[in-house]
Amino acid sequence: MASFNHANYTARDTGSSPAAAATPTLGVGPLPLDGREFRRQGRQVIDFIADYYDHIDEYPVRPAVAPGFLARQLPDTAPSWPEPDALASALRDVRDLILPGVTHWQSPRHFAHFAATASNVGALGEALAAGLHINPFTWAASPAATELETVVTDWLGKALHLPEQLLFCGGGGGTLLGTSCEAMLCTIVAARDRKLAEVGGEERMGDLVVYCSDQTHFSFKKAAHVAGIRRANCRVIPTCRESGFTLSPAALQAAVRADEAAGRVPLFLCATVGTTPTAAVDPLRELCINGLENHF
Ligand SMILES: Cc1ncc(COP(=O)(O)O)c(C=O)c1O
Repeated sequence: MASFNHANYTARDTGSSPAAAATPTLGVGPLPLDGREFRRQGRQVIDFIADYYDHIDEYPVRPAVAPGFLARQLPDTAPSWPEPDALASALRDVRDLILPGVTHWQSPRHFAHFAATASNVGALGEALAAGLHINPFTWAASPAATELETVVTDWLGKALHLPEQLLFCGGGGGTLLGTSCEAMLCTIVAARDRKLAEVGGEERMGDLVVYCSDQTHFSFKKAAHVAGIRRANCRVIPTCRESGFTLSPAALQAAVRADEAAGRVPLFLCATVGTTPTAAVDPLRELCINGLENHF
């Protein structure tokens, strides 16, 4: 939906001097839409989304398209100039080119993978967040956003019945992240640094071992690799149909004991509540006892 190609701005475009033209004018100048036009176009977008939800059950859940179907219908380069009614033409493209190639996760007839995570209420919240465009790097960068994150993180922790020491109100805390992959990486890095400080520093990196089951999402292995854990030190515990594809505490314990006996350092266990392939729920309580609570 981009209606400007800022990189193509010149002195002629902006009325500024040739010297100034050498510097792109990104982010400078008035907002592209005045208040009246913003309201008009905003209503068009909301109407478009509302129509989509009104008719969502009429779309085929899986699109009947072949790889490359979209790329060959789009121009090779981004538009260089604002189109007269860019939003209307963008919405036409979304309707005619994009929607026919979408897998409709929100459809009431979509039963693959797991329940979709979006809601139209959430979409309105996202619109509000995008409109305010908050940058909450630090408390000073946006005090309200920083405090709101703290409060909402605690709400989530309380809804999950987490122990109080993991919440801000109990001296702990957390952060809201964009995806599970990011969360996985952040938690492994935090655990890694704490463990290395305990066991003698970075020379022990090669000894750190992480554990998961053969049902664990691949993002765990990826995050462990990015965090510097040796590939050979990622223990993937096999599961079986008889136990509902859940991670066996006994098998985990055996793997941990073997690593300890070999002088390696157990670092991190990734248990899953609802695995991607079978929605298996690993027995968290049992995995945390039998002495394993000292490790992870
Ligand atoms: C159990 C599990 N963990 C992690 C992920 C990765 O999620 P994200 O795409 O939010 O990083 C998924 C995605 O399907 C998942 O099912």
